[in-house]
Amino acid sequence: MVTLVVKDSSDEIIFEQKLEGGQNFLDECAENDVDLPFSCHAGACMSCAAQITAGMEHVNSTLDGDQYIETDEDVVLTCVAGPKQESIDSKEDYKIEFTMMM
Ligand code: FES
Repeated sequence: MVTLVVKDSSDEIIFEQKLEGGQNFLDECAENDVDLPFSCHAGACMSCAAQITAGMEHVNSTLDGDQYIETDEDVVLTCVAGPKQESIDSKEDYKIEFTMMM
């Protein structure tokens, strides 16, 4: 099981919820009425970049982006990154926390 915690650029928590599926972070937040910044929705512009502050080992950062950009080790593109399915399926409680960069 994975709990996602999202902070804005001023370090305020704007979203916190247990995840049930492995879709990308951007869509997960949008489905819960939390709009994160984005533009291309395809891994090509970095508008949706976020710095991972906890749980990077539970992040799948290579979900289906059309033109996926390689990022620094602790930065993910929320439109093409989501939780690893094995972490969602685990009986352990994990946390993924990130801070939006824009
Ligand atoms: S919205 Fe462009 S890289 Fe994510």
